[in-house]
Amino acid sequence: MTPERIRRLNGMTFFHCRRPSRATLATAILVSALALVLQGCTGGPQPPGGRDLSAEPLLATAPTYPAPADIDPEMVTGARTMIRTSLAPRTHVTVPAVPGAAPLNAALAEQAARWEADFADEGPNSRAELSIGWQPVALSTPVVGIALDRYEFAGATGASTTRTFWYDASQQRVRPNTDLVADPDALARAIRTSVAALGITTDQDALDEVLQHGGPQYLGFTDDGQLLAGFADYQIAAGSYGSITVAVHDVALSAFGTQARFAAQNPTPTRPPSDTSPSPALRPATVDCRRRKCVALTFDDGPANYTDRLLDTLTRAHVRATFFVLGQQVDANPSQARRIVAEGHQIGNHSWSHRDLSALSEADRSREITRTTREVERVTGIVPQLLRPPYGATNAPVDLTAKRLDLPEILWDVDPLDWRDRDSRLVRARVLSHARRGSIILMHDIHRTSVDAVPAIIAGLRSRGFTLVTVSELLGAHLTPGKRYSRALR
Ligand code: NI
Repeated sequence: MTPERIRRLNGMTFFHCRRPSRATLATAILVSALALVLQGCTGGPQPPGGRDLSAEPLLATAPTYPAPADIDPEMVTGARTMIRTSLAPRTHVTVPAVPGAAPLNAALAEQAARWEADFADEGPNSRAELSIGWQPVALSTPVVGIALDRYEFAGATGASTTRTFWYDASQQRVRPNTDLVADPDALARAIRTSVAALGITTDQDALDEVLQHGGPQYLGFTDDGQLLAGFADYQIAAGSYGSITVAVHDVALSAFGTQARFAAQNPTPTRPPSDTSPSPALRPATVDCRRRKCVALTFDDGPANYTDRLLDTLTRAHVRATFFVLGQQVDANPSQARRIVAEGHQIGNHSWSHRDLSALSEADRSREITRTTREVERVTGIVPQLLRPPYGATNAPVDLTAKRLDLPEILWDVDPLDWRDRDSRLVRARVLSHARRGSIILMHDIHRTSVDAVPAIIAGLRSRGFTLVTVSELLGAHLTPGKRYSRALR
């Protein structure tokens, strides 16, 4: 999807939706209103006050699209996940590295880097957000298919893109999507037929351009083996139709495509799962934080590559911490999530995919939270009792959702900016100089430097007389759902 294409399709609307930061406040309001009228904004305009106006499509309802085969990311065993987060601008990038598939991993990393660079080039405003995630679409020894998802929220509107990468292990190369079929021209004809059958207004020029230049960016399979073609939001139709996905009929697959379809329908783990056995649980502390100088260490965005090492450190030091996990990370790394719980730490909900909850519709916000709760419960048997909104971004609608879902919101008062400054000594120094009685300390176990800093942080806090506890021990077990807590004041 080129920017030119987006603008041609959506005219001024999309351009305006994406650039409210460049406008003055008054112009931004005017542009938001104009955008609502013109229906360029799937997410609905966000007025400066942060009121949630997440709109249903005004002019059109998206048809129901066929769903791709659902493969558990846990099956990509031995995958390392690169996670980058940034608060300014708000970016959360998760890219897998599949064992033994270096060319695939390079292609995925390159795509993510290109999307990040595009986002940076657009000069994102303070509400803008980029989120990149992944999903296996096929998994076998000869063929691996990975879909990379990009979600971009520009302060007024959100847009999603999903791109598939098909890896041929016998040739050790990533093959173009159209290599799945015997005849790309037949694929193009079949896609036109399926798109026409949707009965919605589409941009024929845009569709022509896509089909003549490499084909759809998403090509995968349903559970029952139908070929699926997918387009980004805004790519071939108005944004209100969402990401258009069609089943493509009567197209012969290539030999590679036949293997790919088999791998989509019968996924096999890339490697036998290696189970990390938990250390014996630390005994629940009987710490009275009304008498002791307590602080809570919290770790966000995992479980990921460094979580096991962090858990080893905490066990050695007899410290229990609180992990605010992402549902998608628990889904991909269940053994670490089980270790967190088995070793006596507290587990909290940090949403599914690290979206800014204050910018989502009520329905999407609830889904981000409840899907994570269900996943944590499925994997660990524990229902998280705490919510930490990604980026600490909260507002009245988030409070209401949290209240309805029975979750207090846990923020923090000590932020060593470990996501920005990957320097263990700096992170340790900031924690030690800012920690006070009752502090909630924010860190991220997705960064090696942060995990490296933990032994010295524990030693330093203890030498200053602090006792390290979980968030519930710090704040007390009875917290008010929907209320925000950033420090214990008792
Ligand atoms: Ni986070």
